[in-house]
Formats: sequence, C-alpha cells, structure tokens
Amino acid sequence: MTEVHERLEELRDRGLYRHLRLVEGPQGPTVTLDGRPVLLLCSNNYLGLADRAEVREAAAEAALQWGAGSGASRLISGNMEPHRALERRLAAFEGYESALLFGSGYLANSGVIAALAGRGEVVFSDELNHASIVDGCRLSRAETFVYRHGDLEHLSWGLRKARGRGSLIVTDGVFSMDGDVAPLTQLLELAHRHGARLMVDEAHATGAVGPGGRGSVAAAGLSGEVDIVVGTLGKALGSYGAYVCAAAELVDLLVNSARSFIFSTAPPPSASAAAAAALAILETEPELVDKLQANAALLRRSLAAEGLEAGPSTTQVVPVHVGEAEATMELCELALEKGVFAQGIRPPTVPDGSCRLRMTAMATHRREDLVAAAHMVGTAAREVGLVRAEPLAA
Ligand SMILES: Cc1ncc(COP(=O)(O)O)c(C=O)c1O
Repeated sequence: MTEVHERLEELRDRGLYRHLRLVEGPQGPTVTLDGRPVLLLCSNNYLGLADRAEVREAAAEAALQWGAGSGASRLISGNMEPHRALERRLAAFEGYESALLFGSGYLANSGVIAALAGRGEVVFSDELNHASIVDGCRLSRAETFVYRHGDLEHLSWGLRKARGRGSLIVTDGVFSMDGDVAPLTQLLELAHRHGARLMVDEAHATGAVGPGGRGSVAAAGLSGEVDIVVGTLGKALGSYGAYVCAAAELVDLLVNSARSFIFSTAPPPSASAAAAAALAILETEPELVDKLQANAALLRRSLAAEGLEAGPSTTQVVPVHVGEAEATMELCELALEKGVFAQGIRPPTVPDGSCRLRMTAMATHRREDLVAAAHMVGTAAREVGLVRAEPLAA
C-alpha cells in the first residue's frame, strides 16, 4: 500500500501539489480571497448570473416551496416539477426534442458515454477533451481512439481502421483549457460517413458563444443535427447541474441505462429553478453574450500588448502559456500578490509541459479591470522572466 504521506510528497516534488483557496462572497468580478480583495479572472460565472438577484430569488423560492433536497433519484421519488420545467425549457432553447438533467457535467459525460458505447465498439475522443469525457470512455469498456487535437485526418484514419465499430465521436465544443472551438461541421460529416454518433460537450459554450448563447453547435448551424449535446448549469447559467439534449428515444434510453442518472439523487429543486431563471435572463438579455465576448477580446488584446499570447483562443477562456509547473505556479502567486486571481493549470488537467495560467473573462468585468489585470499578469511575467519586452501601448 502506498503511503498517503509519500504520495503527497511526490506531488510536492513534481510541483503538482494543489490546495484549496477560500473565496468569500459570490463570484463577482472582484472577490475577497483568503482575506484580500482581488480581481477574479478564473471563474466560470461567465455572465454573472450566479449572483444576479432574480436567480438567487428563484433558488430561494424553490427551496421554500419544494424543500432543500429532492430526496431520491429521479426514478424513485425525486422527480419534481422544477426538473420537468427546466428540461422542457432547455430542449426548446437548444432546439432538441428532449432534455435530461444530470447532477453535474461530470456525471452527464461519464454516464452518457458509458451508456452509448460498449465492449467491441470504438469511441473517438479529442486529446484535449475534459477529464469527465476521458472517464466516460474508460467506464464504457469500449476501445478509445484518442485523436490529435482537432486533427480530422487523424480521426478519419482511426475511423477507417475501426471498420464500422466506431460508435461515438466526442468532443468539447469550446475547449475548457484553450478556449478554441472544435471543427463541428467536419466532425459531423465524418460521423455520418462512418455511421457513428457525434456528442458535443458545451460546458464552456452554453450561454457564452453562439446565437443568444446557444453554444458552439448552434453557432455552426447544427442544432438538432449533432446527436447528443451536453451542457452544464454550473458555469454561464450560474447554478449547478447539467443536461443532455437529444432525440426523445435516445433520452429514454439514457433514463433506462445511464448509471450516473439512475443511481444518483436528483438535483436540488432550487438549483433547477435557479437555472431556469438564468435561462429566462439569457433569453431576454442576449446582449450579455456579446458583452462577454467583447470583454474576452479585450483581455486577449491587452495580454498580447504585454507580450503574452493566448494561443488559438477565440472565446472567454484565455490561457497564458507558460510550460513547466513550477514557473506556472510562480506566475500565479506573483499575479495574486499584485491583485489578480487566475489559476495555474497543471497536469493531469493539461498535458505535461503545457502548464498555463487560465484566465477567464466575465460579462460583469469592467473594461478597465481587464486592462489592469492583463498589465499585472504582464508585470508578473516579466518579473519571473517569462517575457522580456516592455508592454506595447494597448
Ligand atoms: C468541458 C467540461 N466538461 C464538463 C465539465 C464538468 O462539469 P461540472 O462542473 O458541471 O461537473 C467541465 C468543468 O468542470 C468542463 O470544463
């Protein structure tokens, strides 16, 4: 048996040890972190809906009406009106026949993949997909072909090699650590050509990109055509939980076979009611999405003026690439000292040697705060020797 202490020591030696930081108050553009006020640039509360009054009130009212918890899984006694109402709303929002709630995005991805692929089949997964997709592939007991990031030739080759055993192609819509968008039109074409389904994880796309925040699938004009769309409620929609949109029959199969749906307590009614309120705001204030993307573009430009490039990002996820774990955490701590909270991201979240400071813009950031944050990160990067040049005029 490996000693707990030794395992922790090993993580420390490799610069991979993580610890929890304490945020006081809601996820606003500024938070108090471990007792100090800092600019928040690593929250997924992209539209600021987690702390909007209407969303909080909807959660409070639902808790008063329905109770704090749902008491059981949906198939036992936990299926309540707030779940049903939100599912109807989400299906209409995404342009699908049916939607099904899951406890979280992690549970949705792992449960859906394991339910839709099995022994003897092959799942095709982008190498930069989220860990919940990786774990879903493992749970499915299908063979997994990991294709190089966004590499359609590599995927095509794998599909040919699978000779009809390919059952599912799965990809993040917006990649969670890089902020680039998957080539969905071509992926769907390959899925059709090889008789496989396409599943897109819209965790960082729902509410953040596409027409009215309908995600990368809608942005590509593929609503209703991509077989399975997974979205989360805990990021731009400011609540907690996740959903899957698909044809009614496929959703029925998930109700009957996705273990993370069947064997887990239904989401608290307050979380579903809060997400429904967030969706209502998104529908009446689609300009929030434009504000978010304008802020993201400003953050990228301001970082570039500091000599820091955000790679292929075209969205609100804006990584500052560093490389090694120790240098990344040094930059993270120094930026924090200057007043910017952006998390250093290390393996296993990203591949070895590609550690980064992952910055995220929110619609609620003031423009001057984003420029100031980029300048503080730029100064920190110069101090740790990551960039040499003085900043250009933004
Ligand atoms: C791409 C992606 N998919 C799924 C998840 C999991 O969603 P949740 O936080 O709701 O479990 C996340 C983030 O946490 C994510 O970044």
